[in-house]
Amino acid sequence: MSKSTSGASIELSNVTKSYPNQPQAAVENFSMSINPGELIMLVGPSGCGKTTTMKMINRIIEPTSGSIKIDGEDILSLDQNTLRRRIGYVIQQIGLFPHMTIAENVSVVPKLLGWDKAKTAARVDELLSLVDLDPAKFANRYPKQLSGGQQQRIGVARALAADPPVMLMDEPFGATDPITREKLQDEFLRLQATIGKTIVFVTHDFDEAIKLGDRIAVLSERSQIEQFDTPANILANPASDYVSSFIGEGAALKRLALIPISSAKLGAATASGPAVMVTENLREALDHIVLNGGSPVPVTDAKGKTVGSISVKEISNALGADASALGIKKG
Ligand SMILES: Nc1ncnc2c1ncn2[C@@H]1O[C@H](COP(=O)(O)OP(=O)(O)OP(=O)(O)O)[C@@H](O)[C@H]1O
Ligand SMILES: [Mg+2]
Repeated sequence: MSKSTSGASIELSNVTKSYPNQPQAAVENFSMSINPGELIMLVGPSGCGKTTTMKMINRIIEPTSGSIKIDGEDILSLDQNTLRRRIGYVIQQIGLFPHMTIAENVSVVPKLLGWDKAKTAARVDELLSLVDLDPAKFANRYPKQLSGGQQQRIGVARALAADPPVMLMDEPFGATDPITREKLQDEFLRLQATIGKTIVFVTHDFDEAIKLGDRIAVLSERSQIEQFDTPANILANPASDYVSSFIGEGAALKRLALIPISSAKLGAATASGPAVMVTENLREALDHIVLNGGSPVPVTDAKGKTVGSISVKEISNALGADASALGIKKG
């Protein structure tokens, strides 16, 4: 992947957290290497240890044992200010301060870091614009005067304030309806393409994990890693029934959205009907085919020139030999 990165590497080694008076550890022997600029999704059931795992990375929770390094430096050796500068945090349920304006909310970390007024104000304007909220309109409002989706965006802006190389995001879009959520996800992907942070992102929603993640860790109780791989590999080869149950129904359809039309072997350029661009994915191609009464549709390049056609047959071929392993019957 050639996207530029301002991110840092994260290395967790045998990290354990035992809360006092609990029979079991909340997180047990968790190890993971995260590359600079990677977007890692942690997926798992409620109570499995996702938030605890995340909060140990910025030392809101101290590990009972194990080590965590950011760009090779042990986080236990870093002071609080350095950690705040390096790690942005979007907490579960947004957590904006209700008695502070939007501008004051976004300025929390710059204030702690002692930035002057002018620099802070300029940064607030820049961040509100970045998350697509007009500073003139929103800076002086209070959180309750914003919609849920707008509040979520402010949560992201606040975490980005000190331009940290690492972002921890705990169900940042959890509290929104499906349409707003999809919009926030699309915005977030565009943003990440330009800022290239190293991001650890917690979600309950496997489809969100597929859409956003470079890699996904499927977790079970005590933050045990059941599988840690790219979305395409997990969908094609779930490691266990547990992982399959997380993927849910329609694994083949989900995979289609991850495969570009350009990687399919196209049919002859004879089809008629609404064309799809070769840069779109197989799911979009299938959508066109369904709307075309099931007949193949033309595929065009960026200039609009027809380069071939695609039918259900080419799509299932592109899913490849491992389709049989998935138990998908080819027609
Ligand atoms: N302060 C605490 N003291 C004792 N136990 C705790 C504490 N905080 C969390 N736990 C327990 O540790 C386990 C992991 O909690 P955690 O908040 O990490 O789960 P989670 O995966 O983020 O869940 P959710 O998806 O519901 O947010 C749970 O069993 C929880 O009850
Ligand atoms: Mg949680």
